[in-house]
Amino acid sequence: MTRLKNCHNFHDFRTLAKKRLPGPIFHYIDGGADDESTYRRNTAAFESCDLVPSVLAGVKDVDLSVTVMGQKLDMPVYCSPTALQRLFHHQGERAVANAAEKFGTLFGVSSLGTVSIEEIAKQINSPQVYQFYFHKDRGLNRAMMQRAKEAGVQVMMLTVDSITGGNRERDLRTGFSIPFQLNLSGILQFLIKPMWGINYVTHEKFRLPQLDEHIDMSGGATSIGDYFTNMLEPSMNWDDVAEMVKFWDGEFCLKGVMSREDARRAVDIGCTGIVISNHGGRQLDGSRSSFDQLAEIVEEVGDEIDVLFDSGVQRGTHVLKALSLGAKAVGIGRMYLYPLAAAGQSGVERALGLMRAEIERDMKLMGKTSIDQLSSDNLRFR
Ligand code: FNR
Ligand code: LAC
Repeated sequence: MTRLKNCHNFHDFRTLAKKRLPGPIFHYIDGGADDESTYRRNTAAFESCDLVPSVLAGVKDVDLSVTVMGQKLDMPVYCSPTALQRLFHHQGERAVANAAEKFGTLFGVSSLGTVSIEEIAKQINSPQVYQFYFHKDRGLNRAMMQRAKEAGVQVMMLTVDSITGGNRERDLRTGFSIPFQLNLSGILQFLIKPMWGINYVTHEKFRLPQLDEHIDMSGGATSIGDYFTNMLEPSMNWDDVAEMVKFWDGEFCLKGVMSREDARRAVDIGCTGIVISNHGGRQLDGSRSSFDQLAEIVEEVGDEIDVLFDSGVQRGTHVLKALSLGAKAVGIGRMYLYPLAAAGQSGVERALGLMRAEIERDMKLMGKTSIDQLSSDNLRFR
């Protein structure tokens, strides 16, 4: 616990996660695609502009709430859906869901989640967000959407940037896959983290409950790249998604939109939101950073649908910059996954607490008392 108390930012959590996790798992979270240039640029992009504060604005009370895709959040940051969380800490999605609920914000359950959407729906009262992949088997897609409706999911988030697996060379080197198919050095990295192994074997069996009726994980190993490449439909197109949006008939957003033109098409097919995201630099390396694309996409569709944003966010000031350019809410991935790996629910709570405190402090220093007061007027590009 004492070590968690010494975590004051993203880098501290990352260091602690690295200490606790077997190397192959840490590198699965930490890594990006190819040369990881998009991964690095995602955070560096926030340095391309500066905040211009106002003073003497009377900032005693600050309201951090936002409404996004019909859901009221107490803070403008949410936990973006991520796969395989019980590998990172035995509490997995349960920890993230509880922490997000405590902070009055959203948590998206992944199709590759390790706790079922039904269980999470029972556990928390906050709105349910479900991240969806489009499978080759159309019947499976419909069945999964029907199941999500029955589980009470409010927001459907279709990930569109993973039509095939990104080239994650760290995973190729360690042999990261499910079930594990490690090479010798990968096995050694598990042996030197026995506490992780003890937790893993003394808790319930690892499952992918959104998918395990449909995918046989008992045979050969499935790497994330294999799942994307073999199970997902590479011919997925706008007509397919338009049909899904109609079938869903509720809040529906596309995660991974990066161009103005695609944002426009998302509006045309009836989406109620988009997430500007490059998947944390894990898919197309060399892709522009989400932050660099934000202004032009907001200019195109910001008045018509909710524009959400993720990739590279580590600080309250990053969140303020994205909100100033018109994002309605900001997603974090690794910023809560390292804390999860480091300390389970208390880690995620600490990360969200630090994030909330940073945003509140930065709002005061900016002379703003509500999120809608942020605008591009308080930013200057260098
Ligand atoms: C992800 N992400 C992701 N996205 C998605 O739509 N479905 C998923 O199952 C996953 N799984 C996943 C696992 C891990 C380990 C990571 C790091 C990321 C992407 C995620 O939702 C989000 O877009 C990025 O993590 C945002 O970038 P940052 O905040 O990690 O820089
Ligand atoms: C990833 C997936 C599962 O980024 O979206 O690993």
